[in-house]
Amino acid sequence: VTEDQTRITSLASDGLRDALTIADLESLARQRMDPAAYDYCAGGSGAEATLAENLAAFARRRLRPRALVGVAKPALATTVLGRRLELPIGVAPVSLQRLAHAEGEVASARAAADLAALFCLSTFASRSMEEVAAGAGPGVRWLQLYLLRDRGVTASLLDRASAAGYDAVCVTVDVPVAGRRHRDLRNGFRRFMAGQPALLRDLAPQANGDREAALARLDAIFPNPRATWADFEWVCSRTSLPVLAKGVLRRDDARLALGSGARGVVVSNHGGRQLDRAVPSIDALAEVVQAVAGEAEVLLDSGVRSGADVLVALALGARAVLVGRPVVWGLAADRAGSGVAGARRALELLRDGLAEAMVLAGAGSVDALDPSFVA
Ligand SMILES: Cc1cc2nc3c(=O)[nH]c(=O)nc-3n(C[C@H](O)[C@H](O)[C@H](O)COP(=O)(O)O)c2cc1C
Repeated sequence: VTEDQTRITSLASDGLRDALTIADLESLARQRMDPAAYDYCAGGSGAEATLAENLAAFARRRLRPRALVGVAKPALATTVLGRRLELPIGVAPVSLQRLAHAEGEVASARAAADLAALFCLSTFASRSMEEVAAGAGPGVRWLQLYLLRDRGVTASLLDRASAAGYDAVCVTVDVPVAGRRHRDLRNGFRRFMAGQPALLRDLAPQANGDREAALARLDAIFPNPRATWADFEWVCSRTSLPVLAKGVLRRDDARLALGSGARGVVVSNHGGRQLDRAVPSIDALAEVVQAVAGEAEVLLDSGVRSGADVLVALALGARAVLVGRPVVWGLAADRAGSGVAGARRALELLRDGLAEAMVLAGAGSVDALDPSFVA
């Protein structure tokens, strides 16, 4: 290790230690990432109205604390689909994490496993599901799946997820086509060229190992604008793993998901990257929770940036929240390190912020939270 490398490593870890908020991690990440890759991760679709509203809708919420509850150390542990988590927080499926750190999803999955948080791997992860399972150690892990135009490819992903010990499949239902991302268009950013999804390697044999041909094959199967709940139902029948629907924002869709075999729904607008002007997911949560009526588990993502945000989502009925960009910022902030510490830092900021907000709000456990805590 040269003196220079040591200096860079210690600077990087200093930066991590000094980060008190997710916004602090984001500014470190922004300095340390390629600008077009940063834009790909930070950006949203269209005028980015939903991207901004996701944060504003959380920031608007006010809390109604209980006094003299006698809580010193709140219990953050919960279960999701029967598996215990030490915190009600997980890593959302985010594609191409090697754009943020060379270790990519192996680092973020290890961070989640270290803290006994949930980890969800994207269909377009830059590391394979087997590499992640082997590299991250024991933990609760889900595979995110798109309803591809080729059921053979979808089926092989389902089989590999079972074989590699994944605990559930999270089917993303809000991508009939990819949202129009102006930042990427202006930067000329081709995500699958820049980021190299591991899935391309799987498609390459059919394309005789030729990269452009593999990309063309990917284009032929994703996205799938003709997908319907019948395809979702097919996934449920094709796997013995529990299946969730990610990207539900309405009561009728929540009921359709359940009727099609979903064991859970993730209330999400894809972090403002799909339909611009879609409602903030925190504003859709109560409606979905009511429609699901305890028949399945409800999670939420899009815009969670602090412990108080997590508290609001749990109080309004989410069993757990997922975070996308905060983990990317943690990985990228820790570029000179292993990536694990940075991703962990992001999750720890949210976990410790949740614990602090619960003490101040007078909630002894996640089960004690209910809508009366939110104004
Ligand atoms: C860079 C990036 C890539 C993403 N890739 C996927 C993906 O492959 N599949 C998916 O279902 N969602 C994907 N998402 C959406 C996330 O799963 C999640 O819904 C969103 O990031 C939550 O919002 P947040 O970033 O405000 O926490 C991606 C999000 C980002 C920021």
